[in-house]
Amino acid sequence: MIELSPSVLGADLMRLGEEVKRVKELGIGWLHLDHMDGHFVPNISFGPDFVAAIRRESDLFLDVHLMLSHPLAYVPAYVKAGSDLITVHVEAEDDPETTLRAIRESGVKAGISIKPNTPPEAIEHLLPLCDLVLVMTVEPGFGGQGLMDSCVDKLPVLREMIARTGREILLEVDGGVKQENAGKVIAAGADVLVMGTGLFRAKDPAAVVAAVREEARACGR
Ligand code: DX5
Ligand code: ZN
Repeated sequence: MIELSPSVLGADLMRLGEEVKRVKELGIGWLHLDHMDGHFVPNISFGPDFVAAIRRESDLFLDVHLMLSHPLAYVPAYVKAGSDLITVHVEAEDDPETTLRAIRESGVKAGISIKPNTPPEAIEHLLPLCDLVLVMTVEPGFGGQGLMDSCVDKLPVLREMIARTGREILLEVDGGVKQENAGKVIAAGADVLVMGTGLFRAKDPAAVVAAVREEARACGR
């Protein structure tokens, strides 16, 4: 089963309520929320209150991506806000193991993410603490960039690594995913496709969703 996780960063923020409803109407179950601190990445987005506001209006699975240098201190706020999954970066300054444990102990699913220059091996020891691995396919910080093929090559490696753990861990891809490259990403082993501009700015989002579902069927997923 392939999940789409639309990134709110690509939505029309003046019409956020409608955009979130639209996601649900498209038959999508997840929503991706990017949090940036202006330090780990050169951009600033939104915080836990934003998640809480969406939680009050929606039962979508809230997939929170923390691009923060110090995510540990913010875990309680994001848990309280109603996140279903909190993903942090292995490159963050806080110890990833401590942060992942704090997320799990709060009863929320935990994810670990790697930036384009970080090899899959950097997170192998953390897999027992993870429900999801997020592979960045652009340098994090901005929506609307082009997918880096070199990052897609990490997916089969991670798939193997995950299989060796014997645990169920989802593989998510984030950055530059569009209708045109969804097939390639699914074939390489992704379970969850983040799509910001590729979905929210598409002329016909329903056609994008249908095309992704078709690619998934073609790959037997
Ligand atoms: C980038 C963010 C992404 C971004 C994806 O740092 O993590 O989630 O919103 O946007 P698109 O799909 O437009 O590349
Ligand atoms: Zn993201």
